[in-house]
Amino acid sequence: VSLQPYNTFRFDYQAQYFALIETIEQLVQAIAWAKSCTLPVTVLGGGSNLLIQGDVAGLVLLNHIKRLTRLEETLDSALIEFGAGEVWHDSVAWAVEQGLGGIENLALIPGSVGAAPVQNIGAYGVEVKDVIAAIQVLDVADLSLHTLAPEDCAFGYRESRFKHEWRERYVITSVTLRLSKQPLLTLEYGGLKNAVSEGAGIRQVFDAVCEIRRSKLPDPAQLANSGSFFKNPVVDAECYAAIKAKFPNVVAFAQAQQWKLAAGWLNDQAGWKGYRGQGVGVYEKQALVLVNYDCTKADALLALEQSIKDSVQAMFGVELEREPVLLGAASCR
Ligand code: EPU
Repeated sequence: VSLQPYNTFRFDYQAQYFALIETIEQLVQAIAWAKSCTLPVTVLGGGSNLLIQGDVAGLVLLNHIKRLTRLEETLDSALIEFGAGEVWHDSVAWAVEQGLGGIENLALIPGSVGAAPVQNIGAYGVEVKDVIAAIQVLDVADLSLHTLAPEDCAFGYRESRFKHEWRERYVITSVTLRLSKQPLLTLEYGGLKNAVSEGAGIRQVFDAVCEIRRSKLPDPAQLANSGSFFKNPVVDAECYAAIKAKFPNVVAFAQAQQWKLAAGWLNDQAGWKGYRGQGVGVYEKQALVLVNYDCTKADALLALEQSIKDSVQAMFGVELEREPVLLGAASCR
């Protein structure tokens, strides 16, 4: 089965076996089957934070487990359980519709609910970890369901255990969010404050975030991409001072004793914005986003990644780290 429809870079590699999963029972059955054949299992969500670089051995599952349950209501909050296969943006829109706040800044992030905790999605000063109350997972080892607390997940900037030691161990089946009925708005980041009027509510914040994102990020349905391709690198004060001395306009955000540099700015300064070659390129309005114009394989994109890393290293002495997760066997290059 071709995985082209299931990754937003639209690379065309094969899954050895493939199944669409709509219930926990189907998930259990599929994994039990794979284990009986000693096949590895890979679970895909929206495929929007994924860089497939080769054919994928074993069983690939597309997680479409849908669910929406109001678990608990208090005067000022509601606990909502979302199935892992729900579309993230639709869940945000639903919450805003219900007057439930906490995730309106995370509007229009592509992908599924189940993928959100894996890389701790974040935008405009909010990270999904801020509202996660619990995560239900299936343990691949014994096919039992567990509920994990957010403290167990080692959430960090675009990081969690699900990206590392839990990658093969757990499949996320639902995510429970604690949403607020008296939301406090987060408007400090990225010009959001200027984009909403005095006394705004979550609906206006949601609309403003959608507008800002549409103005600078390519829609994966129109131009294949996986959002930010690099993390914003975090450097110590000494490194920041050295860069600032040479490049007084450097865009950076203070973080405790450290500095988070805008990787988009670094790539932009290194001349990459709007670059196009070998069927891939760098988005013309945001140099942090790599795009695929017409390649079916990942080689040109991986080469572009390396060239960008090399030039940013040479110019600023900073190492960029890829954000999307790599999947599939590497070809010999
Ligand atoms: N900049 C440039 N040139 C560029 C791009 C950016 O000079 O080509 C500068 C701008 O001055 C801007 C600054 O860099 O002020 C930061 O850019 P932006 O506000 O677009 O945010 P970002 O740091 O590039 C991060 C997240 C995004 C998230 C936005 C808004 C990461 C890796 N990316 O981008 O997340 O939407 O902030 O909060 O942290 C994603 O993870 O896929 C993603 C899109």
